[in-house]
Amino acid sequence: MSGLAHLCRHLLMGLPGDPATLKALHAARQWFEGQRLKISQSPPPPLLNRLSGSKSARLAPLFLMDGLWLAGLFAPATGHLSSRCRLHPIFMDSLGLGTPKHSSGEAFRAYHARQGDHFHRLEYPALFIDDLNLEGCAMVLIILVFQHSPIRYFPEIIGFTLTHLKRPPEDFENEIQLKRRSQHRILAEQALQEAAFNDQEANRLLIGEALYRASFNALSGPPHAAAEGEFEPATKAMIRIIQGKMPEALGYHGGVMLKGQSLDDWFRQGPHAAGAIVEALEAPDESQRQCPVAHRLLQAMNFGGPMYGVFTQGERDIASCWMKNPQTLVPKTPCRTGQRDPKPVHRRSTAAAMREDRLGARELYGALLQTESPLEAPDRAAAWLRAILARTDSWTRIGLLPKAQPYHPASLDQWVRGQHRKAVDRHPSSPKPITVDKAFCHWILLQLSPAILVDGAWLWGLQKPSEALRPWDRDLIRIHFDELGEGQPEWNHPNIYRELLISEGIEIGDFRATAFQQDRRLLNAAFDFPCTLLSMGALQSIYPAECLGLNLAIETSGLGTHYLRAIEILRHHQINPAIVGLHLSIDNLASGHSARALRAIERYLETLQAVEGPEATQAAWQRIWRGFNCFKVANLPLTARLIGRLFLHQHGCPVESLGSLATP
Ligand SMILES: [Fe+2]
Ligand SMILES: [Fe+2]
Repeated sequence: MSGLAHLCRHLLMGLPGDPATLKALHAARQWFEGQRLKISQSPPPPLLNRLSGSKSARLAPLFLMDGLWLAGLFAPATGHLSSRCRLHPIFMDSLGLGTPKHSSGEAFRAYHARQGDHFHRLEYPALFIDDLNLEGCAMVLIILVFQHSPIRYFPEIIGFTLTHLKRPPEDFENEIQLKRRSQHRILAEQALQEAAFNDQEANRLLIGEALYRASFNALSGPPHAAAEGEFEPATKAMIRIIQGKMPEALGYHGGVMLKGQSLDDWFRQGPHAAGAIVEALEAPDESQRQCPVAHRLLQAMNFGGPMYGVFTQGERDIASCWMKNPQTLVPKTPCRTGQRDPKPVHRRSTAAAMREDRLGARELYGALLQTESPLEAPDRAAAWLRAILARTDSWTRIGLLPKAQPYHPASLDQWVRGQHRKAVDRHPSSPKPITVDKAFCHWILLQLSPAILVDGAWLWGLQKPSEALRPWDRDLIRIHFDELGEGQPEWNHPNIYRELLISEGIEIGDFRATAFQQDRRLLNAAFDFPCTLLSMGALQSIYPAECLGLNLAIETSGLGTHYLRAIEILRHHQINPAIVGLHLSIDNLASGHSARALRAIERYLETLQAVEGPEATQAAWQRIWRGFNCFKVANLPLTARLIGRLFLHQHGCPVESLGSLATP
């Protein structure tokens, strides 16, 4: 096995904290740095090769891993940023979340299966990697380095993504996929705008573009004849330009007729039709070169025309040359690259790693927000989670927490619904008097901020290519997508909470900054529960059953009287209760997050029952129950402090004004 294959295997199959995996990640990043340097010192790579039919099977490493390079962007530290949030639907569509056969990988596989080409499934990554040649491994490794380095390589990821989305249509893409791709392109361009890159970052974006082209062409074999040399006939350049515009142009040209059919009908035939379109547009001799459609095409490209801005100046020049003489030699479209050597945003030093052992919850919270990849979760996170789970076990053993009953899907369902009914029925039918003042509400909002600003974090480490996802993973990923706002920054739960704090004049600053983590207005206990959330998210691959249990506990926890009472109190003080109302609805047990959480557990155990039998199922159920119970253990320190403060408040000891950020 080649060195690159070895690295791919570690990154696809490795577990957090495993020294060999960490070593592989370090080596993969070093290899990637070498690639970046090489690309920045090379002439611009040519345009993308065009492959048709069974030849495009060579692109399997790219298309079976489609979108995975974006997966790391939705981590707790960055998922709320508009520039990342906008890209989330692209990743979700690549997974074909509701319908796996709509995922890019499945569509690619189905097309090639019809051509007689079969690849190993990504559920068995070792086999998949064994199939790859050097170029295939290089493409997979770039994708994996991006996945695991979303902070340090964000500009390159955007460049790589944009080039992927702008590529000419492939034979295996149908009309729906092409439409989806053009929507994705709009999202990626919006993300780019919102990222507001400086010059250095803009250069790095170009490196990402060039990397995509170089690795795509290496993967697809020898370059296309049209891409060789400095010049090419204008007619060939036009064919490529038309191919590049087809995905976005489709649907807008039903009324433009060319040789008896509309341009949309031509576009529907796919990329191979571009040659026939250009040929049909070309007039046979000079006297006929004022072909009405071609002439209108050029007019439309000019300022004020309906296609102004669709074609670059270089493309318009080529079109103009082509109009005069299709055989005129034109320079190939230049591709820009820049020179830069960005400093990684975050590197863990050995000293920092050693210090982690002495960190408290505040520092662990900060360290986990600095963690780029679940594979690099600090050792302290694993120790934190082990301690919470050990405490859960002992409290369960001595009867402080309920013990698990033997698993049966119907009884679990009934139990969850029964608990929910009790929580709803506990809410009094007539409103109870409000015994807390507005300042106390503000204090509570502040104490909850470290946890709510990482809402969804317990699922952040679930990052797999579409084919490797199991049915229960899909439920969890859907919940995570909702928590992060479904691609809309203003729907992102932490952002809704930020808005609430701002509207109430509660200043907290950036939650990733040390100033927030050391803010003395916040209780130490306010960081305990979010540390459990962040640690569970990072270590999900080690604790899949516990994560399922914790997920169920979180999603069902506030439903009923807790949320209803919170809304009453907030409304009473004219505080916007949107964040609570949102959770009351989205976490609902009929079809919302609670229902998904329950279904995920059932699917997980159903599969275990079928594959490993009843004993393994009951053992896994014990672990799920442990995860469910650990919610209370992780929450207890803050809950106890809040109840204590409420008691004092109700006995004549009001909380003082919060003031602004208070660091020691
Ligand atoms: Fe939420
Ligand atoms: Fe939720």
